[in-house]
Amino acid sequence: MTTLPRRFLGDLETSAIGFGAMVLSPGMYGEIDDERAVAALRAALDEGATLIDTSDGYGADGHNERVVGEALKGRRDGVAVATKFGFRVPEGAEGHRFPVSYAFGELAVNAEPRYVRGYAEQSLRNLGTDVIDLYYPHFPDPQVPLEDTVGAVADLVKDGLVRHLGLSNVTADQLRRAHAVHPVAAVQTQWSMWQPVEPELHAAARELGVGIVAWSPLGGGFLAGTVQNLAQDDFRRNIPRFDEANLKTNNDRYAPLRGIAADLGLTPGQLALAWLLHQDDHVVPIPGSRTPAHIAENLSAARVDLHADTLARIDEALAGFDPQGTGSVLT
Ligand SMILES: NC(=O)c1ccc[n+]([C@@H]2O[C@H](COP(=O)([O-])OP(=O)(O)OC[C@H]3O[C@@H](n4cnc5c(N)ncnc54)[C@H](OP(=O)(O)O)[C@@H]3O)[C@@H](O)[C@H]2O)c1
Repeated sequence: MTTLPRRFLGDLETSAIGFGAMVLSPGMYGEIDDERAVAALRAALDEGATLIDTSDGYGADGHNERVVGEALKGRRDGVAVATKFGFRVPEGAEGHRFPVSYAFGELAVNAEPRYVRGYAEQSLRNLGTDVIDLYYPHFPDPQVPLEDTVGAVADLVKDGLVRHLGLSNVTADQLRRAHAVHPVAAVQTQWSMWQPVEPELHAAARELGVGIVAWSPLGGGFLAGTVQNLAQDDFRRNIPRFDEANLKTNNDRYAPLRGIAADLGLTPGQLALAWLLHQDDHVVPIPGSRTPAHIAENLSAARVDLHADTLARIDEALAGFDPQGTGSVLT
């Protein structure tokens, strides 16, 4: 078992890089089965990841949470399990729709307080555990004041079902309003070399002592530098940055950053993760992968020190990167 450098998300201590499990359910980023999924999760634990990120909305009927639960059998101690709720709208309840920029066009959630305990109890059963370390509404519900949703999670904290509150895909204002109801340990937001963090959200998180969990820190795989074309059933085909013409342009424009990685003896993915870690002491990227060698490579980026001159060189290259196609999921 490897030990990685540590970071704090609010009061929650985790490895500096965690593991995002979404890729381990079918219908996302290429071929996967449960045996491979459990092996990938165990590889992440072996390589020192102590934050595992899932959602009740990944895969059918809590599939992703169930594979996480399977992988954690006998290995739950010292691991922070983070999950999210809102997409698995109960039968008979209304899904509250809202627009998003890519892939789906719109999404529907229900984060009414009356359903939150039921969501948590189902996730606990899926995960085979008696406490969720970090629990997020996956997206704010457009028809429910965020304070009300957060109040329901605060009740779960009081009752010992949840340890820490997280928020996902929120604005700075929403973070402030939620934090006034109950301390927020972490906001989860898209942040990578090709999708900057929203500056106001970043500033609010710093001011309030809230950690940032960076989702798609490898740009859904693009920043690893190996995506040339995608299988017909790959969900990223719906993301404009991955359509055939944009992918070619974006790979060309990414060449200077691949060059910097090569000069440093790093892979492009390691550089992307190490760069992210140098943006804030309280950012924890959660790259996902089905492949143990990729997982070891990604997690080892937690030990990479980038000199100020190198960071300046990266920033200069990033200023000229200008990826083609919509990058943010939020409109
Ligand atoms: N809160 C939200 O709304 C939200 C939205 C999206 C994602 N997330 C979270 O963020 C996590 C990560 O995001 P993500 O899965 O979208 O994107 P990501 O981690 O940026 O990229 C995952 C992709 O990168 C590839 N990859 C990883 N390491 C690699 C390496 N070293 N070399 C080559 N390819 C590599 C993987 O392929 P292989 O399997 O072949 O390695 C996979 O296709 C998710 O699992 C989820 O937990 C949250």
